[in-house]
Amino acid sequence: MRGTGLIRELDAAGFRAVLDQLAAVYAAAMRPQPDQLPGRRVNMDRHAGYPGFRALTVAADPGGPVIAFSYGFRGAAGQWWHDVVSTGIRAAWGAPLAAAWMDYTMEIAEVHVHPAHQGRGIGRAMLGTLTAGRAERTAVLSTMDADTPARRLYRGLGFTDLLTRYVFPGDSPPYAVMGAVLPLRDVRGLPPSAADRPPWPGSAARSGSAAGSASAARTGTAAGAPGAA
Ligand SMILES: CC(C)(COP(=O)(O)OP(=O)(O)OC[C@H]1O[C@@H](n2cnc3c(N)ncnc32)[C@H](O)[C@@H]1OP(=O)(O)O)[C@@H](O)C(=O)NCCC(=O)NCCS
Repeated sequence: MRGTGLIRELDAAGFRAVLDQLAAVYAAAMRPQPDQLPGRRVNMDRHAGYPGFRALTVAADPGGPVIAFSYGFRGAAGQWWHDVVSTGIRAAWGAPLAAAWMDYTMEIAEVHVHPAHQGRGIGRAMLGTLTAGRAERTAVLSTMDADTPARRLYRGLGFTDLLTRYVFPGDSPPYAVMGAVLPLRDVRGLPPSAADRPPWPGSAARSGSAAGSASAARTGTAAGAPGAA
């Protein structure tokens, strides 16, 4: 485990040791059905064994409880999400573009900030630190295909829609698969005074139309080849 102050990087063992705290942050941030939590924990435990695993936690006070976390790893054939998304991008955009985005990629698996601490720059700072210095060419993730704070955060960091209205096997709600060329743009460090900055009063005042195209299933909107710009 390394890192000082509020943000810490965890190795796989350190990550597994605080799974209870991470699950609590996840539950507060995402409000899943309670019966979904055990499966999520199993996934997180498995992900900790993937190559290139990197995890971060944030505490409001040094030594205090975890209020936010994020992690990712190297995407590789044989991983469920990687295989499903690669197939989807290949179907929508063709094999060369799928390879350009997915063959050497960091998969951002989770980014969550406890609601009491959202809107203070923590999510952006975690993604900046999580992806800093990575060797992979791209970063990819999936998120609900809607105008959410998460979608706005990702767009602000340079993520573009690779797939929209994407339904994962098992009949999920529509997701957007997003990708960015590394390094991310407009990353900022964790503000030392994050705890002093008042949270935004609510999403209503910041609402907009950051959602991707809501047209046909699996339509992509901006999947240019990474690095081609
Ligand atoms: C999405 C989430 C991780 C963002 O973390 P955060 O610390 O609250 O966000 P930040 O303060 O770093 O804000 C970064 C950007 O996110 C967007 N954003 C954050 N909160 C927002 C809100 N309430 N309304 C609209 N946009 C918002 C903005 O684009 C913001 O950039 P800006 O400050 O330049 O305007 C956090 O809100 C969260 O945990 N949400 C619930 C769980 C979730 O959706 N996780 C992601 C699953 S894919």
